[in-house]
Amino acid sequence: MRCVMRVIKTRISHLESRIPFMPKYDHHFFICTNTRPPIANPSCGASNGHELFAKFREVIEQNGWQGKIAVNATSCLGPCEKGSIIVVYPTGVWYGNVQPDDADEILRSHVIDERAVERLLLHEDVTTLS
Ligand code: FES
Repeated sequence: MRCVMRVIKTRISHLESRIPFMPKYDHHFFICTNTRPPIANPSCGASNGHELFAKFREVIEQNGWQGKIAVNATSCLGPCEKGSIIVVYPTGVWYGNVQPDDADEILRSHVIDERAVERLLLHEDVTTLS
C-alpha cells in the first residue's frame, strides 16, 4: 500500500510541475454581459452590462490593480431581471442592479476596505436561481 501511495504522490508531483502557472487574484469579478433582443426577457447586456464591464477594466487599470484583480465578462448568471449582475470570488458575493457608476465604489470597497457594498447585494433566494 505504501508503495502505491508513493507512486501516486510521485505522479501527482510530476503533473503539478507541468501545470502552467495560474495567477492568484485577490478578487475575481464576473460581470454578466449577456444580451438578448429587446422583445425577449431582460438581460444584463441591455442593462448596461457592457458599459459596466468596460468601466471595471478602466478603474482597475487606472489604479494599477491588474495583477491583483481580475474581471471577466460572462454569459447569463441566472437572475436576469436584476441585471446587471456581478458575482465576486472567492467571497461569493452577488450584486444586482449594478450600473457603470457603481464600478469605482465596488472595486474600492473590495480592494481597500475588504467589504461588500451592502446597497447592491442580492438576496440569497435570488442568487440560488439557476
Ligand atoms: S442576462 Fe445577466 S443574469 Fe441573465
